[in-house]
Amino acid sequence: MTALTTAAGTVPSHPLLDAARLRLEDHLRHVGPIPWAVPLVRELEAAGLTGRGGGGFPVARKLTVAASAAAATGRVPLVVANGAEGEPASAKDRRLLAHAPHLVLDGLQLAAAAIGADRAHVLVAPAALVAVQAALVERAGVDRVPVEVTVAAERFVAGEESAVVAALEGRPALPGDKLRRVVESGVHGRPTAVQNVETLAHLALIARFGAGWFRSRGTATEPGTALVTVSGALDRPGVVEVAHGTPLRAVLDGAGLRHPAPVLVGGFHGAWLAPHEVGVATFSRASLGGYGAATGAGVLIALPPGVSGMVETARIAAYLAGQSARQCGPCQGGLPRMADVLGRIAAGDRDPRLVAELHRLAGLTAGRGACHHPDGTVRLVRSALRVFGTDLGAIS
Ligand SMILES: Cc1cc2nc3c(=O)[nH]c(=O)nc-3n(C[C@H](O)[C@H](O)[C@H](O)COP(=O)(O)O)c2cc1C
Ligand code: SF4
Repeated sequence: MTALTTAAGTVPSHPLLDAARLRLEDHLRHVGPIPWAVPLVRELEAAGLTGRGGGGFPVARKLTVAASAAAATGRVPLVVANGAEGEPASAKDRRLLAHAPHLVLDGLQLAAAAIGADRAHVLVAPAALVAVQAALVERAGVDRVPVEVTVAAERFVAGEESAVVAALEGRPALPGDKLRRVVESGVHGRPTAVQNVETLAHLALIARFGAGWFRSRGTATEPGTALVTVSGALDRPGVVEVAHGTPLRAVLDGAGLRHPAPVLVGGFHGAWLAPHEVGVATFSRASLGGYGAATGAGVLIALPPGVSGMVETARIAAYLAGQSARQCGPCQGGLPRMADVLGRIAAGDRDPRLVAELHRLAGLTAGRGACHHPDGTVRLVRSALRVFGTDLGAIS
Protein backbone atom coordinates (compact mmCIF):
# COMPACT_ATOMS: atom_id res chain seq x y z
CA MET A 1 0.00 0.00 0.00
CA THR A 2 1.28 3.50 -0.78
CA ALA A 3 1.07 6.37 1.68
CA LEU A 4 -1.36 9.17 0.66
CA THR A 5 -0.86 12.85 1.37
CA THR A 6 -3.75 15.00 2.66
CA ALA A 7 -4.07 18.47 4.17
CA ALA A 8 -3.44 16.91 7.60
CA GLY A 9 -0.25 15.19 6.50
CA THR A 10 0.81 11.86 5.11
CA VAL A 11 -1.75 9.14 5.79
CA PRO A 12 0.36 6.20 6.94
CA SER A 13 -0.41 2.92 5.18
CA HIS A 14 0.99 0.95 8.08
CA PRO A 15 -0.28 3.30 10.77
CA LEU A 16 2.01 3.13 13.79
CA LEU A 17 5.23 1.85 12.32
CA ASP A 18 5.09 4.15 9.26
CA ALA A 19 4.50 7.11 11.56
CA ALA A 20 7.72 6.45 13.47
CA ARG A 21 9.75 9.67 13.48
CA LEU A 22 12.15 10.49 16.27
CA ARG A 23 12.48 14.26 15.72
CA LEU A 24 9.51 16.56 16.31
CA GLU A 25 10.02 18.53 13.10
CA ASP A 26 10.07 15.35 10.98
CA HIS A 27 7.12 13.93 12.88
CA LEU A 28 4.92 17.00 12.36
CA ARG A 29 5.94 17.27 8.71
CA HIS A 30 5.06 13.60 8.21
CA VAL A 31 1.67 13.32 9.94
CA GLY A 32 0.66 16.97 10.20
CA PRO A 33 0.10 19.34 13.14
CA ILE A 34 -1.70 18.40 16.34
CA PRO A 35 -5.43 18.77 15.57
CA TRP A 36 -6.57 20.50 18.78
CA ALA A 37 -9.99 21.42 17.40
CA VAL A 38 -11.17 17.88 16.57
CA PRO A 39 -14.14 16.64 18.69
CA LEU A 40 -11.94 13.84 19.96
CA VAL A 41 -14.26 11.71 22.08
CA ARG A 42 -16.88 11.61 19.28
CA GLU A 43 -14.22 10.59 16.74
CA LEU A 44 -12.82 7.89 19.06
CA GLU A 45 -16.28 6.51 19.63
CA ALA A 46 -16.90 6.36 15.88
CA ALA A 47 -13.49 4.72 15.39
CA GLY A 48 -14.20 2.08 18.05
CA LEU A 49 -10.69 2.40 19.52
CA THR A 50 -10.09 0.06 22.45
CA GLY A 51 -7.14 -0.02 24.87
CA ARG A 52 -4.00 -1.84 23.73
CA GLY A 53 -2.61 -2.47 27.25
CA GLY A 54 -4.39 -5.81 27.65
CA GLY A 55 -7.94 -5.11 28.83
CA GLY A 56 -9.40 -3.77 25.56
CA PHE A 57 -11.62 -1.15 27.24
CA PRO A 58 -13.26 1.44 24.90
CA VAL A 59 -11.18 4.63 25.02
CA ALA A 60 -14.07 7.07 24.38
CA ARG A 61 -15.93 5.61 27.36
CA LYS A 62 -12.93 5.92 29.70
CA LEU A 63 -12.34 9.56 28.75
CA THR A 64 -16.05 10.32 29.18
CA VAL A 65 -16.12 8.74 32.67
CA ALA A 66 -12.99 10.69 33.71
CA ALA A 67 -14.53 13.98 32.51
CA SER A 68 -17.87 13.22 34.23
CA ALA A 69 -16.12 12.27 37.50
CA ALA A 70 -14.20 15.53 37.33
CA ALA A 71 -17.41 17.51 36.78
CA ALA A 72 -19.18 15.67 39.62
CA THR A 73 -16.38 16.09 42.17
CA GLY A 74 -14.90 19.41 41.07
CA ARG A 75 -11.46 17.78 40.98
CA VAL A 76 -9.22 18.41 37.96
CA PRO A 77 -8.49 15.15 36.11
CA LEU A 78 -5.14 13.73 34.96
CA VAL A 79 -4.01 11.56 32.08
CA VAL A 80 -1.29 8.93 32.23
CA ALA A 81 0.57 7.24 29.38
CA ASN A 82 1.30 3.72 30.61
CA GLY A 83 4.59 2.54 29.14
CA ALA A 84 5.56 0.29 32.06
CA GLU A 85 5.42 -2.85 29.88
CA GLY A 86 5.96 -5.28 32.76
CA GLU A 87 5.29 -8.28 30.53
CA PRO A 88 8.71 -9.83 29.80
CA ALA A 89 7.58 -11.20 26.42
CA SER A 90 6.43 -7.78 25.16
CA ALA A 91 8.63 -5.17 23.49
CA LYS A 92 6.03 -3.15 21.56
CA ASP A 93 5.68 -0.22 23.98
CA ARG A 94 9.44 0.27 24.30
CA ARG A 95 9.80 0.04 20.54
CA LEU A 96 7.02 2.58 19.99
CA LEU A 97 8.42 5.04 22.54
CA ALA A 98 11.92 4.65 21.16
CA HIS A 99 10.86 5.22 17.53
CA ALA A 100 7.74 7.39 17.65
CA PRO A 101 7.69 9.17 21.04
CA HIS A 102 5.95 12.23 19.55
CA LEU A 103 2.98 10.20 18.36
CA VAL A 104 2.42 8.95 21.93
CA LEU A 105 2.99 12.42 23.40
CA ASP A 106 0.55 13.99 20.89
CA GLY A 107 -2.03 11.43 22.00
CA LEU A 108 -1.36 12.24 25.65
CA GLN A 109 -1.82 15.98 25.04
CA LEU A 110 -4.99 15.46 23.00
CA ALA A 111 -6.48 13.17 25.67
CA ALA A 112 -5.58 15.75 28.35
CA ALA A 113 -7.29 18.51 26.35
CA ALA A 114 -10.38 16.35 25.76
CA ILE A 115 -11.05 15.81 29.48
CA GLY A 116 -9.76 19.16 30.78
CA ALA A 117 -6.67 17.74 32.52
CA ASP A 118 -4.08 20.23 33.75
CA ARG A 119 -1.20 17.75 33.91
CA ALA A 120 -0.05 14.51 32.31
CA HIS A 121 2.29 11.70 33.29
CA VAL A 122 4.34 9.19 31.35
CA LEU A 123 5.29 6.00 33.14
CA VAL A 124 8.17 4.64 31.16
CA ALA A 125 10.27 1.45 31.11
CA PRO A 126 13.94 2.31 31.76
CA ALA A 127 14.90 1.37 28.16
CA ALA A 128 12.71 4.12 26.67
CA LEU A 129 13.49 6.89 29.16
CA VAL A 130 16.10 8.73 27.08
CA ALA A 131 13.90 8.87 23.96
CA VAL A 132 10.95 10.23 25.95
CA GLN A 133 13.02 12.85 27.76
CA ALA A 134 14.64 14.02 24.53
CA ALA A 135 11.22 14.26 22.85
CA LEU A 136 9.80 16.32 25.71
CA VAL A 137 12.65 18.84 25.47
CA GLU A 138 11.78 19.35 21.78
CA ARG A 139 8.10 19.88 22.57
CA ALA A 140 8.44 23.00 24.72
CA GLY A 141 6.04 25.49 23.10
CA VAL A 142 3.94 22.77 21.49
CA ASP A 143 2.50 21.01 24.55
CA ARG A 144 -0.45 22.54 26.38
CA VAL A 145 -0.10 20.73 29.71
CA PRO A 146 3.13 19.89 31.55
CA VAL A 147 4.27 16.26 31.43
CA GLU A 148 6.01 14.48 34.28
CA VAL A 149 8.09 11.37 33.54
CA THR A 150 8.37 8.49 36.04
CA VAL A 151 10.50 5.39 35.52
CA ALA A 152 8.53 2.18 36.02
CA ALA A 153 9.69 -0.53 38.41
CA GLU A 154 10.81 -3.63 36.51
CA ARG A 155 8.10 -5.89 37.84
CA PHE A 156 5.27 -7.76 36.09
CA VAL A 157 2.48 -6.03 38.01
CA ALA A 158 3.99 -2.50 37.85
CA GLY A 159 1.83 -1.58 34.81
CA GLU A 160 -1.48 -2.59 36.41
CA GLU A 161 -3.38 0.68 36.69
CA SER A 162 -3.69 0.88 40.49
CA ALA A 163 0.06 0.06 40.70
CA VAL A 164 0.62 2.90 38.21
CA VAL A 165 -1.28 5.27 40.52
CA ALA A 166 0.79 4.06 43.50
CA ALA A 167 4.03 4.71 41.59
CA LEU A 168 2.91 8.22 40.60
CA GLU A 169 2.07 8.95 44.24
CA GLY A 170 5.60 7.89 45.24
CA ARG A 171 4.54 4.56 46.81
CA PRO A 172 5.79 1.07 45.82
CA ALA A 173 4.33 0.11 42.41
CA LEU A 174 1.91 -2.54 43.64
CA PRO A 175 -1.76 -3.05 42.75
CA GLY A 176 -4.15 -1.74 45.38
CA ASP A 177 -7.78 -1.24 46.29
CA LYS A 178 -10.13 -2.95 43.81
CA LEU A 179 -13.16 -0.98 45.03
CA ARG A 180 -11.69 2.39 44.08
CA ARG A 181 -11.98 3.02 40.32
CA VAL A 182 -8.84 4.78 39.12
CA VAL A 183 -10.74 6.63 36.38
CA GLU A 184 -12.94 8.22 39.09
CA SER A 185 -10.41 8.49 41.92
CA GLY A 186 -6.81 7.88 40.91
CA VAL A 187 -3.65 9.87 41.59
CA HIS A 188 -4.18 11.72 44.90
CA GLY A 189 -7.93 11.12 44.51
CA ARG A 190 -8.15 12.91 41.16
CA PRO A 191 -10.03 11.30 38.24
CA THR A 192 -7.22 9.62 36.26
CA ALA A 193 -7.40 8.25 32.72
CA VAL A 194 -4.61 5.66 32.40
CA GLN A 195 -4.03 4.69 28.76
CA ASN A 196 -1.46 2.38 27.28
CA VAL A 197 1.12 4.22 25.15
CA GLU A 198 0.09 2.36 22.00
CA THR A 199 -3.53 3.36 22.61
CA LEU A 200 -2.44 7.02 22.71
CA ALA A 201 -0.51 6.65 19.46
CA HIS A 202 -3.63 5.29 17.71
CA LEU A 203 -5.61 8.15 19.27
CA ALA A 204 -3.20 10.72 17.81
CA LEU A 205 -3.63 9.23 14.33
CA ILE A 206 -7.43 8.97 14.60
CA ALA A 207 -7.56 12.65 15.61
CA ARG A 208 -5.67 13.52 12.42
CA PHE A 209 -7.06 11.09 9.86
CA GLY A 210 -10.49 10.21 11.27
CA ALA A 211 -12.57 7.23 12.28
CA GLY A 212 -13.17 6.12 8.68
CA TRP A 213 -9.46 5.86 8.01
CA PHE A 214 -8.94 3.85 11.24
CA ARG A 215 -11.78 1.50 10.33
CA SER A 216 -10.27 0.81 6.89
CA ARG A 217 -8.10 -1.82 8.62
CA GLY A 218 -9.24 -4.62 10.94
CA THR A 219 -12.78 -5.97 11.23
CA ALA A 220 -16.14 -4.25 11.74
CA THR A 221 -16.24 -5.28 15.42
CA GLU A 222 -12.49 -4.95 16.08
CA PRO A 223 -11.26 -2.09 13.92
CA GLY A 224 -7.69 -0.99 13.35
CA THR A 225 -4.31 -2.51 13.91
CA ALA A 226 -2.27 -3.54 16.93
CA LEU A 227 1.41 -3.89 17.63
CA VAL A 228 2.36 -7.51 18.25
CA THR A 229 5.60 -8.83 19.75
CA VAL A 230 6.49 -12.17 18.14
CA SER A 231 9.16 -14.44 19.62
CA GLY A 232 10.18 -18.06 20.10
CA ALA A 233 10.90 -20.46 17.24
CA LEU A 234 10.96 -17.79 14.53
CA ASP A 235 13.62 -16.55 12.12
CA ARG A 236 12.58 -12.91 12.51
CA PRO A 237 11.37 -12.22 16.07
CA GLY A 238 10.39 -8.61 16.80
CA VAL A 239 7.48 -6.17 16.75
CA VAL A 240 5.03 -6.15 13.86
CA GLU A 241 1.83 -4.23 13.20
CA VAL A 242 -1.15 -6.48 12.56
CA ALA A 243 -4.69 -5.67 11.42
CA HIS A 244 -7.31 -7.33 13.62
CA GLY A 245 -8.70 -10.38 11.85
CA THR A 246 -5.37 -11.35 10.21
CA PRO A 247 -4.84 -15.14 10.27
CA LEU A 248 -2.49 -15.98 13.14
CA ARG A 249 -0.55 -18.25 10.85
CA ALA A 250 0.09 -15.36 8.42
CA VAL A 251 1.52 -13.25 11.25
CA LEU A 252 3.80 -16.08 12.35
CA ASP A 253 4.82 -17.07 8.82
CA GLY A 254 5.70 -13.43 8.17
CA ALA A 255 8.03 -13.61 11.17
CA GLY A 256 9.62 -16.81 9.84
CA LEU A 257 7.84 -19.59 11.75
CA ARG A 258 9.96 -22.66 11.12
CA HIS A 259 7.49 -25.46 11.95
CA PRO A 260 3.85 -25.65 13.07
CA ALA A 261 4.08 -25.17 16.83
CA PRO A 262 1.96 -24.54 19.91
CA VAL A 263 1.76 -20.78 20.46
CA LEU A 264 1.30 -18.84 23.68
CA VAL A 265 -1.11 -16.04 22.73
CA GLY A 266 -1.38 -12.89 24.88
CA GLY A 267 1.82 -13.27 26.89
CA PHE A 268 2.41 -14.71 30.35
CA HIS A 269 -1.23 -14.04 31.27
CA GLY A 270 -2.33 -15.55 27.96
CA ALA A 271 -3.32 -19.00 26.73
CA TRP A 272 -1.70 -21.77 24.68
CA LEU A 273 -3.14 -22.74 21.31
CA ALA A 274 -2.35 -26.14 19.73
CA PRO A 275 -0.72 -26.07 16.24
CA HIS A 276 -3.98 -26.98 14.44
CA GLU A 277 -5.75 -24.13 16.29
CA VAL A 278 -3.00 -21.70 15.31
CA GLY A 279 -3.71 -22.77 11.72
CA VAL A 280 -7.34 -21.59 11.82
CA ALA A 281 -7.47 -18.77 14.41
CA THR A 282 -7.24 -15.10 13.54
CA PHE A 283 -5.73 -12.23 15.53
CA SER A 284 -9.01 -11.05 17.05
CA ARG A 285 -10.82 -11.35 20.36
CA ALA A 286 -13.76 -12.96 18.54
CA SER A 287 -11.64 -15.81 17.18
CA LEU A 288 -9.19 -16.27 20.07
CA GLY A 289 -11.99 -16.19 22.66
CA GLY A 290 -13.07 -19.60 21.35
CA TYR A 291 -9.80 -21.02 22.70
CA GLY A 292 -9.90 -19.16 26.03
CA ALA A 293 -7.32 -16.68 24.67
CA ALA A 294 -7.42 -12.96 23.85
CA THR A 295 -5.36 -10.51 21.84
CA GLY A 296 -4.26 -8.97 25.18
CA ALA A 297 -1.21 -6.78 24.86
CA GLY A 298 -0.27 -8.46 21.57
CA VAL A 299 2.24 -11.20 22.34
CA LEU A 300 2.79 -14.41 20.36
CA ILE A 301 5.40 -16.94 21.51
CA ALA A 302 6.00 -20.00 19.29
CA LEU A 303 7.22 -22.98 21.33
CA PRO A 304 10.58 -24.15 19.99
CA PRO A 305 10.77 -27.80 18.87
CA GLY A 306 12.06 -30.10 21.60
CA VAL A 307 10.89 -27.75 24.37
CA SER A 308 8.12 -29.17 26.57
CA GLY A 309 5.06 -26.92 26.85
CA MET A 310 4.56 -28.11 30.42
CA VAL A 311 8.15 -27.25 31.36
CA GLU A 312 7.79 -23.81 29.77
CA THR A 313 4.48 -23.24 31.60
CA ALA A 314 6.07 -24.31 34.91
CA ARG A 315 8.87 -21.79 34.33
CA ILE A 316 6.43 -18.95 33.58
CA ALA A 317 4.12 -19.86 36.50
CA ALA A 318 7.09 -19.82 38.91
CA TYR A 319 8.04 -16.38 37.56
CA LEU A 320 4.46 -15.07 37.95
CA ALA A 321 4.17 -16.47 41.49
CA GLY A 322 7.30 -14.51 42.40
CA GLN A 323 6.03 -11.22 40.94
CA SER A 324 3.25 -10.30 43.38
CA ALA A 325 3.83 -8.72 46.77
CA ARG A 326 1.64 -11.53 48.19
CA GLN A 327 -0.83 -9.06 49.61
CA CYS A 328 -3.90 -11.17 48.76
CA GLY A 329 -4.82 -14.80 49.49
CA PRO A 330 -4.54 -16.16 45.92
CA CYS A 331 -1.03 -14.73 45.52
CA GLN A 332 0.06 -15.98 48.96
CA GLY A 333 -1.30 -19.50 48.51
CA GLY A 334 -2.69 -20.40 45.09
CA LEU A 335 0.01 -19.11 42.77
CA PRO A 336 3.04 -20.59 44.60
CA ARG A 337 1.20 -23.89 45.06
CA MET A 338 0.27 -24.10 41.37
CA ALA A 339 3.88 -23.29 40.48
CA ASP A 340 5.11 -26.08 42.81
CA VAL A 341 2.76 -28.68 41.33
CA LEU A 342 3.71 -27.65 37.78
CA GLY A 343 7.36 -27.85 38.79
CA ARG A 344 6.85 -31.46 39.95
CA ILE A 345 5.11 -32.39 36.68
CA ALA A 346 7.83 -30.65 34.67
CA ALA A 347 10.46 -32.57 36.63
CA GLY A 348 8.83 -35.85 35.55
CA ASP A 349 6.56 -36.69 38.51
CA ARG A 350 3.66 -38.67 37.00
CA ASP A 351 1.43 -38.91 40.08
CA PRO A 352 -2.07 -38.73 38.51
CA ARG A 353 -3.34 -36.64 41.44
CA LEU A 354 -1.19 -33.68 40.36
CA VAL A 355 -3.43 -32.68 37.46
CA ALA A 356 -6.55 -32.86 39.66
CA GLU A 357 -4.71 -30.73 42.23
CA LEU A 358 -3.89 -28.12 39.57
CA HIS A 359 -7.55 -27.92 38.55
CA ARG A 360 -8.56 -27.61 42.22
CA LEU A 361 -6.04 -24.83 42.90
CA ALA A 362 -7.06 -22.99 39.73
CA GLY A 363 -10.70 -23.05 40.89
CA LEU A 364 -9.74 -21.72 44.33
CA THR A 365 -7.52 -18.97 42.90
CA ALA A 366 -9.55 -17.47 40.03
CA GLY A 367 -11.44 -14.23 40.67
CA ARG A 368 -10.14 -13.75 44.20
CA GLY A 369 -7.34 -11.18 43.93
CA ALA A 370 -7.42 -7.41 44.22
CA CYS A 371 -6.18 -7.36 40.62
CA HIS A 372 -6.30 -9.77 37.66
CA HIS A 373 -2.82 -11.23 38.26
CA PRO A 374 -4.16 -14.52 39.72
CA ASP A 375 -6.78 -14.79 36.91
CA GLY A 376 -4.13 -14.36 34.23
CA THR A 377 -1.98 -17.05 35.83
CA VAL A 378 -4.95 -19.43 36.08
CA ARG A 379 -5.73 -18.82 32.39
CA LEU A 380 -2.17 -19.82 31.47
CA VAL A 381 -2.23 -22.98 33.61
CA ARG A 382 -5.66 -24.15 32.44
CA SER A 383 -4.66 -23.65 28.80
CA ALA A 384 -1.48 -25.69 29.35
CA LEU A 385 -3.55 -28.53 30.78
CA ARG A 386 -5.92 -28.29 27.80
CA VAL A 387 -3.25 -28.19 25.11
CA PHE A 388 -0.48 -30.35 26.56
CA GLY A 389 -2.72 -33.10 27.94
CA THR A 390 -5.07 -33.55 30.84
CA ASP A 391 -3.65 -36.82 32.05
CA LEU A 392 -0.07 -37.27 33.03
CA GLY A 393 0.56 -39.94 30.42
CA ALA A 394 -0.29 -37.46 27.69
CA ILE A 395 1.79 -34.60 29.05
CA SER A 396 4.72 -33.84 26.79
C1 LIG B 1 -1.01 -7.64 36.24
C2 LIG B 1 -1.29 -6.59 35.23
C3 LIG B 1 -0.25 -5.94 34.59
C4 LIG B 1 -0.52 -4.92 33.64
N1 LIG B 1 0.55 -4.32 33.01
C5 LIG B 1 0.30 -3.35 32.08
C6 LIG B 1 1.39 -2.71 31.41
O1 LIG B 1 2.58 -3.02 31.65
N2 LIG B 1 1.11 -1.72 30.51
C7 LIG B 1 -0.21 -1.34 30.24
O2 LIG B 1 -0.42 -0.44 29.43
N3 LIG B 1 -1.24 -1.94 30.86
C8 LIG B 1 -1.02 -2.92 31.77
N4 LIG B 1 -2.08 -3.52 32.41
C9 LIG B 1 -3.45 -3.00 32.12
C10 LIG B 1 -3.71 -1.75 32.96
O3 LIG B 1 -4.23 -2.13 34.23
C11 LIG B 1 -4.71 -0.80 32.29
O4 LIG B 1 -5.88 -1.54 31.99
C12 LIG B 1 -4.18 -0.17 30.99
O5 LIG B 1 -2.94 0.49 31.20
C13 LIG B 1 -5.22 0.82 30.49
O6 LIG B 1 -4.81 1.31 29.23
P1 LIG B 1 -5.57 0.92 27.87
O7 LIG B 1 -7.06 1.00 28.19
O8 LIG B 1 -5.12 1.95 26.93
O9 LIG B 1 -5.16 -0.47 27.52
C14 LIG B 1 -1.85 -4.55 33.35
C15 LIG B 1 -2.92 -5.21 34.00
C16 LIG B 1 -2.64 -6.22 34.92
C17 LIG B 1 -3.80 -6.92 35.59
S1 SF4 C 1 -4.01 -10.24 43.50
FE1 SF4 C 1 -1.81 -10.61 43.78
S2 SF4 C 1 -0.78 -9.17 42.41
FE2 SF4 C 1 -2.92 -8.49 42.64
S3 SF4 C 1 -2.89 -7.01 44.35
FE3 SF4 C 1 -3.33 -9.02 45.26
S4 SF4 C 1 -1.31 -9.86 45.83
FE4 SF4 C 1 -0.93 -8.17 44.43
